[in-house]
Amino acid sequence: MGILIKNGEIVTAKDRYIGDIYCADGKILRIGMNLEKESAKDEVIDASGQFVFPGLVDPHTHMELPFMGTVSADDFENGTAAAIAGGTTTIIDFVVPARGANIFDALKEWKEKAKKAVADYAFHMALTGWFDHTAEDMRRCVQEEGVTSFKVFMAYKGAIGIDDGELWQALKAAGKLGCVLSVHAENGDVIAHLQKKFLAEGNTEPKYHALSRPSPLEGEATARFLALARMTGAEVYVVHMTCREAVDALAKAQRGGQKAYGETCPQYLLLDDSVYEKPNFEGAAYVMSPPIRPKGHGEALWQGLQNGTLQTIGTDHCPFMQKGQKEMGRGDFTKIPNGAAGVENRLGLIYTYGVEAGRFDLCRMVDLLATAAARIFHLYPQKGTIVPGADADLVVYDPEGETTIAAARQVSKCDRNIFEGMKVKGRPTYVIAAGRIQYKDGDLKVERGKGRFLKRYLTVAQ
Ligand code: URP
Ligand code: ZN
Ligand code: ZN
Repeated sequence: MGILIKNGEIVTAKDRYIGDIYCADGKILRIGMNLEKESAKDEVIDASGQFVFPGLVDPHTHMELPFMGTVSADDFENGTAAAIAGGTTTIIDFVVPARGANIFDALKEWKEKAKKAVADYAFHMALTGWFDHTAEDMRRCVQEEGVTSFKVFMAYKGAIGIDDGELWQALKAAGKLGCVLSVHAENGDVIAHLQKKFLAEGNTEPKYHALSRPSPLEGEATARFLALARMTGAEVYVVHMTCREAVDALAKAQRGGQKAYGETCPQYLLLDDSVYEKPNFEGAAYVMSPPIRPKGHGEALWQGLQNGTLQTIGTDHCPFMQKGQKEMGRGDFTKIPNGAAGVENRLGLIYTYGVEAGRFDLCRMVDLLATAAARIFHLYPQKGTIVPGADADLVVYDPEGETTIAAARQVSKCDRNIFEGMKVKGRPTYVIAAGRIQYKDGDLKVERGKGRFLKRYLTVAQ
């Protein structure tokens, strides 16, 4: 069965025009005017008055991640279903081996877990330590496994975090291979000191999570990471940037000619640290790293998106239930599992508070939510754009109407939504993934196991 989408306003990162799209066998076959059905069985979608976006790419998710003594609450099936409901048809998740574990065993484990995904997925490989064999492991990841991007954590010291010597070696190896190294940039040593100090003083509430990780510690780590990257020549990507100091450090590196990219997430654009004051331990729902920042930082991030310092908006989707999971940190904020859901809400939030609010146009939105991530992480043009030959991943978005975000109505299994009560303009009416209609007017019809592992190749010039 083919799918013919008629009369929608097709939006890519470069272009906007009214036209028709014909898809079959999982691919976009034709784009033009007055296209006709090619078989009696073809489904026709009338997209008049609606936008047609490429299926969105989320470069930062953590489905069923073992983390901080528990496992994130959305598995690959449910998490990718939540993604589809929010217009995201491709995720890039993180393989996070325990320090010292064999990374190919970890990759095998993640591939096994992800077999039930309903949307396509790729993996970044986290380097949680540096050993004699790691550079060779990285080469094999890229050349044999199609995993072409890596990640390091400067936070989470004593667990998955690495030190500067290890970071240096990871940067050198990534530079040599020509692949992107991502970083979670926070000064882990100072954070560990502040956490101890707060606990020793009897300060155990969720708000001390944020107070033990102030924004200058993210700015310092970002600047240090970028300085080391400059010395090694590696191409780098800073994940979940939250603050003015980090954006300034990235802008400076880019002015110096470095190939350095930045990602932020809706929670850092739209929320402020007053969330940690919520009574009854509700602040725990917002415990993530880096934390939500004081008012003002969000504006610096919006500016970074507007002036091109930041390239992508990911979600860092990593939900934990309030009941049974976040509660593990009652009496000790360092034991609250870090993370929150977001994959389902990214498009609505950024359309509403980015495009509708006049901060940037639709083409820039598509770039931020799909195209740039596909390019940086070697999925373009299979993903992230609308051209003949690309995967038939498409979102038909009706800009009319308004919905209110509520955990009670979400696909994610999480019992909280950090955007609860926020109003969102418009909604996806159809989400098509690899040529399958997976979402239609609020009805999710996903198929377990239909998501494919995306092997990537270092072929795209940036
Ligand atoms: O708090 C967060 N962000 N949890 C997920 C792991 C990470 O640091 O991205
Ligand atoms: Zn992180
Ligand atoms: Zn993350």
